[in-house]
Amino acid sequence: MNSTPGGRPFRLGIVGAGSIAETHAAAAAALPGVTVAGVCDVRADAARELAARHDTAWFADHHRMLDAVRPDGVIVTAPHALHAPITVDAAAAGVHVLVEKPMATTVADCELMIAACREHRVQLGVGHVLHHLPTVREARRLLGAGDIGRPAVIAERRTAHYAPDARPGWFFDPELAGGGILMNVGAHSIDKIHWLGGAPAERVVARVSSKPGVAVETEAVGLLELANGLAAAISVTGTGLPFHDQTEIVGDDGALRLSRDTGLSVFRAGSGSGDGTLVVRPEDDDIEAAFRDQLADFVDACRSQRPPAVDGAYGRSVVATATAMYQSAARTELVRIAPLASEAA
Ligand SMILES: NC(=O)c1ccc[n+]([C@@H]2O[C@H](COP(=O)([O-])OP(=O)(O)OC[C@H]3O[C@@H](n4cnc5c(N)ncnc54)[C@H](O)[C@@H]3O)[C@@H](O)[C@H]2O)c1
Repeated sequence: MNSTPGGRPFRLGIVGAGSIAETHAAAAAALPGVTVAGVCDVRADAARELAARHDTAWFADHHRMLDAVRPDGVIVTAPHALHAPITVDAAAAGVHVLVEKPMATTVADCELMIAACREHRVQLGVGHVLHHLPTVREARRLLGAGDIGRPAVIAERRTAHYAPDARPGWFFDPELAGGGILMNVGAHSIDKIHWLGGAPAERVVARVSSKPGVAVETEAVGLLELANGLAAAISVTGTGLPFHDQTEIVGDDGALRLSRDTGLSVFRAGSGSGDGTLVVRPEDDDIEAAFRDQLADFVDACRSQRPPAVDGAYGRSVVATATAMYQSAARTELVRIAPLASEAA
């Protein structure tokens, strides 16, 4: 068990012992002052196996884990539509929450989560882990420093193999997943656009398409206009193409290219084609390190009673954009994102 010198460890619970839970548990194991005090999953075998790997208690129900373990905080890694009820239960038990992306499947659920955490005076963090990735952080710093001048447009493109043979069945259940590739993988893309663009989307136009026999969309494209006027094109597709994860931000004096394969590069206006200048190289373990940073920030936030780096209001803005894109696709029209209730007053 890790503990802070002279202090008691931060005791963590994990709700949902699926694929990303192991990354969170490993992050906890690597952090001084943090210990995994219990894990739970409705699939008892999954909970038992994760618990065995991390020498901790397991449960098949999060209520029982909250009662028996009384953790300081929980990480919610369950299916998307369950993020809200589990967060509300944890908050009512006085437990801080770090909830995986997307924060929830509706803006109304995000509001419930924010209100519950506020009422019970616990912190709420959302796992937009890219805020802790060195390439993305440096891109944001360069943009803030005016390195490419005034940003004009963002082009974001991401691919994944999005088919029922590739991931658990709930990802293809519209109720549990809240959508398909856009809600799941596209949450990262929307996050990058909002964070690097410096504002949430205000108006969106989108179209989606599903592979035959799949109940959620497997392809999505859209145009976003951010509240600061910046325009972004987004393409998130799930069929055939090899892995691609790239964001390009073009400004008056140059451009940034952020790529999972090649890292962060800067291109100067007037330099023509070429490879640009590599600023931050991707590392083999940078995602694992980002999960450790994210958890360290969450634990510090809970201990010092400040909001985590990515808070509920930010997580809600990503869900607002994704759900507006679904509305745009369903109605084949431009959708304006309504000011959020807590900000309209
Ligand atoms: N930040 C990232 O890069 C990243 C990467 C992968 C997944 N995720 C997110 O993490 C979450 C989990 O994704 P995953 O890939 O691990 O899915 P998964 O299906 O592998 O794991 C989810 C687990 O939750 C369990 N579960 C279902 N209902 C439950 C309940 N009521 N209580 C407790 N457990 C319950 C399931 O049995 C399953 O084991 C999703 O929100 C996903 O979008 C984020």
